[in-house]
This record gives sequence, structure tokens and C-alpha cells, in this order.
Amino acid sequence: MSKYASWTHGKLPLPELAELKRRGQKLSMVTAYDFPSGRIADEAGVELVLVGDSAGMVVLGNESTVPITMDELLMLTRAVTRGAKRPIVVSDMPFGSFQVSDDIAVENAVRFVKEAGADAVKLEGAGPTLSRVQAIVGAGVPVMGHVGLTPQSATMLGGFKAQGRTAEKAERLYEDALALEAAGCFAIVLEAVPAAVAARVTEALHVPTIGIGAGAACDGQVLVWHDLLGLYEGKAPRFVKRYADLATEAKGAVEAYVDDVREGRFPEEQHTYAIPDEELDAFESWLALHEQTQPEHQER
Ligand code: KIV
Repeated sequence: MSKYASWTHGKLPLPELAELKRRGQKLSMVTAYDFPSGRIADEAGVELVLVGDSAGMVVLGNESTVPITMDELLMLTRAVTRGAKRPIVVSDMPFGSFQVSDDIAVENAVRFVKEAGADAVKLEGAGPTLSRVQAIVGAGVPVMGHVGLTPQSATMLGGFKAQGRTAEKAERLYEDALALEAAGCFAIVLEAVPAAVAARVTEALHVPTIGIGAGAACDGQVLVWHDLLGLYEGKAPRFVKRYADLATEAKGAVEAYVDDVREGRFPEEQHTYAIPDEELDAFESWLALHEQTQPEHQER
């Protein structure tokens, strides 16, 4: 049986995601922030690529996801969509780009599609976000929801910590996820949610759940590029599995380069360009003449 219900050579059709859920086939999503990461994610076979506002932290060095702007995420999305052709590319709507009104949310969502080639956008939260989802989907842009730990409102949630850990909070989360599906989301990210709660939400929804710190029962998983590849030194969050240690490898490589340059081991013959002997002779003759006629050169 082929992996996908409807095979096309180009972009993975969006309705395929719900079909994969129905068939019990798991989805992989990874964040990407530039052309090479978009291309590697595509070649590795992920179904979804997220240009997350986590870029504000892991790429731009901000302390939270709040400061990243529309222009920054548009630029990153443009680079990713040049590399990721097959997966569905989802742009994160940054803080401030959808909170003010439905109209502003639609305008900004349309910019991601029209100016950067995104296939869909992601919005954090429920409550007031529901009417934004309806308005954006109504304008023809697919929307991914995001509940649980929503980093843009980490201050209001009391920090970066797991959500839905009391019966009351789990009920709220369950209702929010259902409301986002009813509003038109094609998939919903569940972040830092107890596995048992995420499992019940996943069962209740027709659209796929994509978990990050939400257990194995979710229909798919997402990891941040830098976490997955170990591009950060230091302790990763509990829900991260590191598949490589590229920070250590990259540092070792740059140290070796610095060493080679200092010791004169780089560049070698094979890294340089040659000039034909007769051209070099002609150049040397010209130089000798030039030096004779240039008094300041003679002084040196
Ligand atoms: O911005 C991001 O990377 C995200 C994922 C963690 C889901 O929202």
C-alpha cells in the first residue's frame, strides 16, 4: 500500500492529513527557518514544515517568541518555501499579527501565502482566536491551531510549563481543541499536555493532533530544528529527543579551521587557482617595470 492515499509529485494535498489520521499513519512535522533546512526536511520525508516563531529565539537570539515580527517571519518563510516543495509549509503568525481584529489577522495571513509562498498559517490559543480562525479560513487560508503551552502567552500561563494538569484545565483544553476544529482548523498542535489528556483530545477530533511534549497517542509529532539536531549546547526541555549533536560538531570544525589558518595548513594547493607560466612571467615583468617607475614603491 502506498504511504499516501492520493499520490501527486508536487505538494502533499492538505486533505491527505486527515486521511492519514483515519488510516492510523503518523505525521512528522519539523520547524525550519531557511532554504537548506527546508530542503533537508523535504528530502527527509516530513509531511509538514513549520516556520515557527521559535525562530525569534533559536535563530535571532531573542529571549522569548514575542518580539519576532511579520517581516522577519515573511523573510524566513520565503527561504523555507524555496527549499521545501513537497511538505505543507505552515507559517506561525507572530504575536501582535492576529490579536487585534479579524481583519488584521486575515491581512497578515494572506501576506504569508501571497508574499512568502506558505500553504497555511498557525495561530496560538482559543477563545478570541476562534473568530480569527473562522475569518482566515473564510478568506481561503488553511489554519493550524495550537493549544496547551502557547509560548506567546507564557507570562499569563505562569511560565513555560505543562498545561491541562487538573481536571478543570484538561476539560478547558479539550473544549478549546474541539472549538478550534469546529472553527475550521485542519490540524491542532498540542504542546506540553499530559499524554492521557492529549490521547482523549486526539480521539475526539477528526483533524490530526500534532504533539510536542504531549505523548505518543497524538497523530503526529513536531520538534524544533535546533533541538532535534542538538544545535544548542545546554539542557534541552524534557520532551526533546536529540538525534544529533551538531553544536559540538560545528564548534570542533570551526576550531580545527582556526588552528589550520594559524599554523598555515590552510589553504593548500588544491584550494588555490593557478595562472599559466607565460602569463605569470608577463605579470612579473610588468611589476618590475612598474616598481621602477613608482618612487613610493622604491622607498619601501
Ligand atoms: O514556534 C514553534 O516552533 C512552535 C512549535 C514548538 C510547535 O510553535
